[in-house]
Amino acid sequence: MIKPDGVQRSLIGEIISRFECKGLKFIGMKLIEIDEATARKHYEEHLGKPFYEGLVQYITSGPVLVGVLEGDEAISVVRTIVGATDPKEATPGTIRGDLGMQIGRNVIHASDAPVSAAREIDIYFDGDELLTYRRIDEAWLYEE
Ligand SMILES: Nc1ncnc2c1ncn2[C@@H]1O[C@H](COP(=O)(O)OP(=O)(O)OP(=O)(O)O)[C@@H](O)[C@H]1O
Ligand SMILES: [Mg+2]
Repeated sequence: MIKPDGVQRSLIGEIISRFECKGLKFIGMKLIEIDEATARKHYEEHLGKPFYEGLVQYITSGPVLVGVLEGDEAISVVRTIVGATDPKEATPGTIRGDLGMQIGRNVIHASDAPVSAAREIDIYFDGDELLTYRRIDEAWLYEE
């Protein structure tokens, strides 16, 4: 998910491009506004933490781009491209390392495990919004 700061700062193209160029395949994508209940559900693992209310406010403060990516080891590959949670510590070359300044404005969210990916995809997408198709360059991205 490209968070509201990423959308407002016109970083959608820059961010999508990094995943595309890597070889990951978008199988779903849409621009939405998250309501408060959905935000609380998404980040329920952080309920009770000091930053929780601010996080809910942040994520509901403007449009976000939600997307689903597919590819070999997609979750860990995406997390590597996204970088550490705090942009100040994130390695240059990562999205957060290149494009952010503060942990509370870290531009992007990425699912951290297959279970959370499935849960989060279910929050934002209906089954018929996810597509099955081949990228024409798959034969060159993968050995077989
Ligand atoms: N100490 C903090 N202060 C402010 N915001 C925080 C803090 N820790 C985490 N957050 C916010 O909560 C989000 C969720 O934290 P989490 O620990 O799950 O990090 P993450 O998995 O790297 O990020 P995300 O779940 O958004 O992909 C962070 O992306 C950040 O926006
Ligand atoms: Mg997380």
